[in-house]
Amino acid sequence: MKVKSYVGEYVAETYSDFSFLDEINTIEKKFFIIDQNVYQLYQEVLGKILKGQPNYIVVAEEENKNIETALAIIERMIELESKRNTVLIAIGGGIVQDIAAFIANIIYRGINWILIPTTLLAQADSCIGSKTSLNFKQYKNIMGYFYPPQKIYINTNFVNTLLEKDYYSGLGEIMKCAIMAGFDSFQSTSSHIDLLKRRDEKVLQQEITKALMFKKSVIERDEFDRDFRNIMNYGHTFGHALETTSGYDIPHGQGVSFGMMIANEISCARGYISEQMKVQLNKAIKEIVHSDLIKAEYFDESRYLPTLRKDKKYTGGKHTCILFNGDSVARYSDIKDEEIVAAINNMLGKI
Ligand SMILES: NC(=O)c1ccc[n+]([C@@H]2O[C@H](COP(=O)([O-])OP(=O)(O)OC[C@H]3O[C@@H](n4cnc5c(N)ncnc54)[C@H](O)[C@@H]3O)[C@@H](O)[C@H]2O)c1
Repeated sequence: MKVKSYVGEYVAETYSDFSFLDEINTIEKKFFIIDQNVYQLYQEVLGKILKGQPNYIVVAEEENKNIETALAIIERMIELESKRNTVLIAIGGGIVQDIAAFIANIIYRGINWILIPTTLLAQADSCIGSKTSLNFKQYKNIMGYFYPPQKIYINTNFVNTLLEKDYYSGLGEIMKCAIMAGFDSFQSTSSHIDLLKRRDEKVLQQEITKALMFKKSVIERDEFDRDFRNIMNYGHTFGHALETTSGYDIPHGQGVSFGMMIANEISCARGYISEQMKVQLNKAIKEIVHSDLIKAEYFDESRYLPTLRKDKKYTGGKHTCILFNGDSVARYSDIKDEEIVAAINNMLGKI
C-alpha cells in the first residue's frame, strides 16, 4: 500500500515472516530503537539485523514516552556517530514508534526512518498517519509533529506474542475503522470476530489492510489533522479520559472501545441510530473488551467529567465528540454532561 504525504509517498508492506530483514541489511548506516519486550522475545531472529549495530532499547511504558527518553537516545546516536545519512529503524508498538518518529523528525533537521510495527494497534492503525508524539508530565501526546517513515514492514506474526489486553487494544482500532466505514462494513468485520480473537492470520491480514485503507482515505485528505481527520477520534474523547482516570491501566485501544460504546449510547439517545443498531454495535464491541479492566470508580463524576472538561475542544459547558449515525461519523460540539452520565450508566449496566 502506498500512502501520499507532504514528504512524498511512503509504502506499507505486509509479511507473514521475516524475509524483509535482508532488505534492512542492505542499508549502510543504521540506528535501531527497539522495544525491550520485543528484543527479549525475538533476539534470535532479530540478531540478523542487530548484530554489531548501534541501538537503544526502550521499556515501552507511557511514562517513558517523554523528552528525557528522546534526549537520551539522541545522545547515544551522537556518541555512536549517527549522521544525516543514518536511517533510524524503530521496532515496537505505538510507544516506540512515537518516540522514534519524534527523534527522526528533529535530529539533523530530519533523517530517514523505517518502522517495523510489532503490536496489532501499530500494524492496523498508528503505522500510517505521520504523527510523532511525546507526553509531558500528565499531558499525553502534547509534543510532536507529522513525519512519516520511509517504509513500513508489517509482519503480522508479531501479534502472536502480545498479551491479550494489548492484542484486544488493536482489535479496538480495527473495529473503529470498520464501524466508521458504515454499517455493512461493521457487519462484515463483526461476522468473523471469533477468528480475529483467535488471531487467525488470514483474517487478521485482511482486517489490517481494511483498517489501513480506511485510515489512508482519511489522512490523505487531511494529513495535518486540521479538520476532516478529526473523525478518526470516534471513541477517543471518552476513551482518552478513561485511560487517564485509570492511570493508564486501560490500554489505548481498549479505552477507544469503551469510548465507542459510550458514543453509541449517546447517538441512540439522540435518535441518530436505532436501539437495535446500538445493541448490535455494542454487543460486537463488548466481545473485544476486557470488562474486568473497568472499575466504576474510573467513571466517578468527580474524576471522569473534570478529566473530559480538560479536552481542548470543551467550550461553553459543552463537549465535542464524534458520533456514528448509521452511514458514517460526524463531529458534534453540543454534548451535555447529563447525556454523558446517562450514557455511561447505560453502558456500565451492560458490561
Ligand atoms: N502515532 C500515532 O498515530 C498513534 C496512534 C495511536 C496510538 N498511538 C500511541 O501508541 C501507544 C500505544 O501503542 P501500542 O498499543 O502499539 O502498544 P505499546 O507500544 O504501548 O506496547 C504495549 C505492550 O506490548 C509490548 N509489545 C510490543 N510488541 C510486542 C510483541 N510483538 N509481543 C509481545 N509484546 C509486545 C510492549 O513491550 C508493551 O509492553 C500510545 O502511547 C498511543 O498514544 C500513536
